[in-house]
Amino acid sequence: MSIISKDIQKAIALLTNEELVAIPTETVYGLAGNIFSEKAIKSIFETKKRPFFNPLIVHISSVDILKNIVSEVPKKAQILADKFWPGSMTLVLKKDKSIPDIITGGKDTVAVRVPNHAVTLELLSKLPFPLAAPSANPFNNISPTKPEHVERYFKNDIKMVLDGGSCKNGIESTIIGFENEEPIIYRLGALAVEDIEAVVGKVLVKNKKEENPDAPGMLAKHYSPQTFTVLTTNILDEISKHQHKKIGVLAFNTSYKNEGISTEIILSKISNLQEAASKLYDALHELDHLNLDIIIVEKLPENGLGNSINDRLKRAAFHQ
Ligand code: TXA
Ligand code: MG
Repeated sequence: MSIISKDIQKAIALLTNEELVAIPTETVYGLAGNIFSEKAIKSIFETKKRPFFNPLIVHISSVDILKNIVSEVPKKAQILADKFWPGSMTLVLKKDKSIPDIITGGKDTVAVRVPNHAVTLELLSKLPFPLAAPSANPFNNISPTKPEHVERYFKNDIKMVLDGGSCKNGIESTIIGFENEEPIIYRLGALAVEDIEAVVGKVLVKNKKEENPDAPGMLAKHYSPQTFTVLTTNILDEISKHQHKKIGVLAFNTSYKNEGISTEIILSKISNLQEAASKLYDALHELDHLNLDIIIVEKLPENGLGNSINDRLKRAAFHQ
């Protein structure tokens, strides 16, 4: 029997009983539990096989609740929260003492956001506690953007995926931390840097682990298909290096019409980066289930969401 259901009351009952429910957001599906239940939070780490040092994002129903989660709100953080929440932006701020250490990996900061999805906003508003929710995929795997992706990963581990359809934005939130009250981007994501800079001026991007010990989850290899994956600016050149192999291609806006290709997916025929982001993980899930020898992925234009998508693709195609 399927674990996918639209029954919000059932989700409330499970979460209140310290169990996990996968929840829809506009970015990716999250694996959610009560932030104050040690049992639920341990279960999140165990289910994902995620190391305990990698902290979780706290999801709240509105900006008004931020004051219960954090102890200080820099001016620019408040401006960003008022402007972009509900939305695909996570703020990392000094934590309130009520936030358990297991949520923050022992750090004195906590990551928090208001997701922009009607179903999950309704759920959060009916619960007396916030939800911790990492992306609902096993550690390092491709993130889920459809309820079916989560079901395939965790049907033996959790009782319910709350069905909210396909995720509209399709890649994870942009994470912003603060140093001396100034915003720093810790993870590129579904809110473009340009949109953030339009509100608070120039921001530094420290999107790599080497650059930023404060962003513990930024692994070189991440979001990865099981199939060998290569990222390139020249699809045809790459195809010519892999003759007699079963090749899948993930192209940006055009078909390569090459007989060496076994399956091809085009992210956006009209070159729309928002559309490309929304289809990205679903396309990778699909290609990864076709028993291909190799997935060849085209690098996207380096502006706006193109930078966020390329960040994910680099990690998906990382080889030691
Ligand atoms: O769009 C999203 O952000 C999704 C949806 C479900 O909300 N969630 C998500 O969570 O992507 P997760 O756990 O897959 O990624 C959270 C990232 C990790 O890289 C983690 O290291 C970082 O947030 N993070 C969490 N707390 C932090 C903190 N206090 N300081 C720095 N980074 C933190
Ligand atoms: Mg994740």
